Amino acid sequence: MPHFEKPAEGSWTQHYPDLGTGTISYEDSISPQHYELERAAIFERTWLNVGRVEQLPKTGSYFTKEVDAARTSIVVVRGTDGQVRAFHNICRHRGNKLVWTDFPREETSGTCRQFTCKYHGWRYNLEGDCTFVQQESEFFDLDKSDYGLVPVQVDVWEGFIFVNLDRANAVPLRDYLGKFAAGLEGYPFGEMTQVYKYRADVGSNWKLYIDAFAEFYHAPVLHARQYVSDESSKLMGYGFEGLHYEIDGPHGMQSSWGGMAPPKDERIVMPVDRILRSGNFGPWDRPDIAALDSLPPGVNPARHRTWGLDSYVFFPNFMIVIWAPGWYLTYHYWPTAYNRHIFEGTLYFVPAKNARQRMRQELAAVTFKEFGLQDCNTLEATQRMLESRAVARFPLNDQEILLRHLHKTAGEYVAAYLDQRDPPHTARASVAAPGGG
Ligand code: FES
Ligand SMILES: [Fe+2]
Repeated sequence: MPHFEKPAEGSWTQHYPDLGTGTISYEDSISPQHYELERAAIFERTWLNVGRVEQLPKTGSYFTKEVDAARTSIVVVRGTDGQVRAFHNICRHRGNKLVWTDFPREETSGTCRQFTCKYHGWRYNLEGDCTFVQQESEFFDLDKSDYGLVPVQVDVWEGFIFVNLDRANAVPLRDYLGKFAAGLEGYPFGEMTQVYKYRADVGSNWKLYIDAFAEFYHAPVLHARQYVSDESSKLMGYGFEGLHYEIDGPHGMQSSWGGMAPPKDERIVMPVDRILRSGNFGPWDRPDIAALDSLPPGVNPARHRTWGLDSYVFFPNFMIVIWAPGWYLTYHYWPTAYNRHIFEGTLYFVPAKNARQRMRQELAAVTFKEFGLQDCNTLEATQRMLESRAVARFPLNDQEILLRHLHKTAGEYVAAYLDQRDPPHTARASVAAPGGG
């Protein structure tokens, strides 16, 4: 049975008294009005991870990112000076989407020397300056230097490219990401360049999928078929206990045990796992790179002997999962409506040196897909019944602490936004007037 410890004083949740232990409402996941507030309060104001620097290998490399929740598309590009910049993907002439390939709503990527609008041929350089206007002399007092692309704040942390659509108020990225990100600095993300990526259009609120990946309490039940049957009934009997849970500002993390990579007893895994020495915890053998010999303090922060993975939830919609056998995963959840989102799950490995290593990665990738599908299906079932509003309050256990924190944090962003939009003192002044006059 996995070994675990709880903090000295009380449970994980009670370690953070602000979270409370009461039942929670899922109204924040089924209300179209609340979603409109989240768009403005969260997705137009926080740092969002849109990709990695490996996607921009050279001058002129670019990719676009649809940020539906902020009703925009962003183009991210590496300039002639090597700098990564981001712009709203809109032409200054008549508002056409500047960069897209075959389908205007789909993301694209490539390399170019400049961006040319498909509509009337205006051009922009990699730094966003407008460099060419078709039949310029026919415009009225038009000065091209006034018509550059609209910049978006961008910053890079450990190779992860973030944008922030709030030009006025964004805090510096590192301050926003806080101590969890600081603790991960130095992990060899940049050496894990073999990427396997899945994308799914999921019929649930974005927070529900984070909920599913922010706790492993469901794993022995929902994913029972991923184990050989003896083992799965044993796991069901044990239940699941995480090793460590922690919260920092809007972000959260957990560590879990990792008895399956390699498993203590090989009989518990599927024959294909045994033959390839890989599976849902990734290839069993760590890649041979020096940076994995001394891990930064944010990896296995509680220094557990049975450690298998860390799962970091960076608010609002970005997760990094670091696995003991030397690979990592990212998850993104991009809302498109109150009850829909695009999920992206991406696996990153040190490039394979031979066919056997490659097969191990492929097995980890297909196993991950199977898990992801099991989780997705459940979410659509959950969303549908939450929307019935037949039940209003739901209990969360101690290991569901990160969900409790996520919904509370999202709610606080909305409340802060409303306070700013409709300052409470205006309301209070009018209420106070009758008594005070
Ligand atoms: S809209 Fe882009 S050139 Fe006219
Ligand atoms: Fe799951």
